[in-house]
Amino acid sequence: MSDDSIKLISLPKIVDLRGNLSFLEDNNQIPFKIARSYWIYDVPGGEERGGHAYTNSAEFVIPLIGSLQVELYQGDKKQTYTLNTPNKGLYLPKLTWRKVCNFLSGSICLIISDTYYNDCEYIRDFNTYINRWKKEYDDIN
Ligand code: TYD
Repeated sequence: MSDDSIKLISLPKIVDLRGNLSFLEDNNQIPFKIARSYWIYDVPGGEERGGHAYTNSAEFVIPLIGSLQVELYQGDKKQTYTLNTPNKGLYLPKLTWRKVCNFLSGSICLIISDTYYNDCEYIRDFNTYINRWKKEYDDIN
C-alpha cells in the first residue's frame, strides 16, 4: 500500500480512565512499512526544522506533545497544517517539501519513516525540488 497524497490520519484512541492509548502498525494505520523513527524536541522558540524534501522516503508525523505547524509543497501547491492531537498524524509522500515551525514550548514531534537515513536523498534547494517534481509528476500528466 502506498499513496501519493498528503493526508491527515486519525489513529485509534483507546480511552481509559488510567490514561489513553494510541498505536500504529506497518501497513495498517499508516500506508507503509516502518524502517525508522526519530523525534524532535527541546526546540527553542521561533526555530524551524526541515526545509527540504526526500526523493524516496514517505513519513508520518505525530505531535506527541504540544503543537506545531507543518508547511508543505507538492510541486508549487502549498498546504499548511497545524498538528496538536497525539492520535492524529500527517502522512507525507515522497517528494513533499516540508518545513516544521511554530513549535509550542515543550513540544515533542515523532516522525516515522519508510526508509533508513540516507543523506543522499535530501533535496535542500527549492528550485531543484520544483524541477525534480516536474520531472517526476508533471511530465507524465
Ligand atoms: P535533518 O533531517 O537535516 O534535520 P532538519 O531537516 O530538521 O534540520 O537532520 C539533522 C541531522 O540529524 C543531520 O546531521 C542528520 C541527522 N539525522 C540522522 O542521523 N538520522 C536521522 O534519521 C535523521 C532524520 C537525521
